[in-house]
Amino acid sequence: MPATTTPTDERTNTWADAKCAKAFWSQSELPVFHALTADTLAAAYPDPSQAAGRQVLDLGCGGGTLTRGLWLRSNGTVAGILGVDCAEANAQRYEKFAAELNAGDRIRFEVVNFSHGLPTLADETFHGVVSGLSITYAEYFDEITQRWTQQAYDGLFHEVFRVLKPGGRFAFSVNVPNPSWWAVGLKSFFGALRSSPKPLRLLKNLNRMNRYGRWLKMEAARGRFHYLPAADVTAKLAAAGFVGIGHRLSYAGQAFVFHADKPATEAV
Ligand SMILES: C[S@@+](CC[C@H](N)C(=O)[O-])C[C@H]1O[C@@H](n2cnc3c(N)ncnc32)[C@H](O)[C@@H]1O
Repeated sequence: MPATTTPTDERTNTWADAKCAKAFWSQSELPVFHALTADTLAAAYPDPSQAAGRQVLDLGCGGGTLTRGLWLRSNGTVAGILGVDCAEANAQRYEKFAAELNAGDRIRFEVVNFSHGLPTLADETFHGVVSGLSITYAEYFDEITQRWTQQAYDGLFHEVFRVLKPGGRFAFSVNVPNPSWWAVGLKSFFGALRSSPKPLRLLKNLNRMNRYGRWLKMEAARGRFHYLPAADVTAKLAAAGFVGIGHRLSYAGQAFVFHADKPATEAV
């Protein structure tokens, strides 16, 4: 079990483990996840031709579902996509599909722990930032109060705003409060098993994801991770300076897909 019991282990972040990263690669085989990916990419670039010539950041990219989807949807016309994630294991997956897509160094991966912000990324680097079910895991433990807080999550919205070019768009998904993994599983399970090239591996990974899912909900309950109402996410985006904020439900009703824009000219 990834859930931990001793006080020292209580802060271990399982997301960085290769086993966890690899289990979540199977998420891309779930039909509801395809729909979520399509909804997020449509929120980023309603018309696929809008991605042409754009530099895009994929935040908490995992195995690169959004990166790969964006590349294919833009017909390889996107200028470049940088995937960042705290789990180094995802680099293998990026190397493999970047080679398959003949993308050269236009698809890249870097290890970044976004709970510490995005310090290696310069201001106004990206035309767009996308993210799938990831930013909610930005964590900050306050040593004085001995509590988890939303400081890193709030800070990440400011960091995304900073690295976006004026007029750039942030499109991302986050789980709804108290998400039901059953709703996701039931909607997808049989279709995914039927179409999977390796159904046994899929079953093993679905079981693992379910166990990680229990850990995630337990941590969210004690304030470490943030499954928040849409109104709270909207308020955080607005506080970071975003405008034109909107959202819709996706992922069998278990995730919001948001879009928000950095003003073309920043107010002074
Ligand atoms: C549910 S998975 C989604 C992966 C990917 N976006 C996708 O759509 O397939 C959540 C991702 O967030 C990443 N993540 C969690 N906490 C992170 C952190 N502090 N810094 C960077 N990545 C993080 C995990 O490693 C994992 O790849």
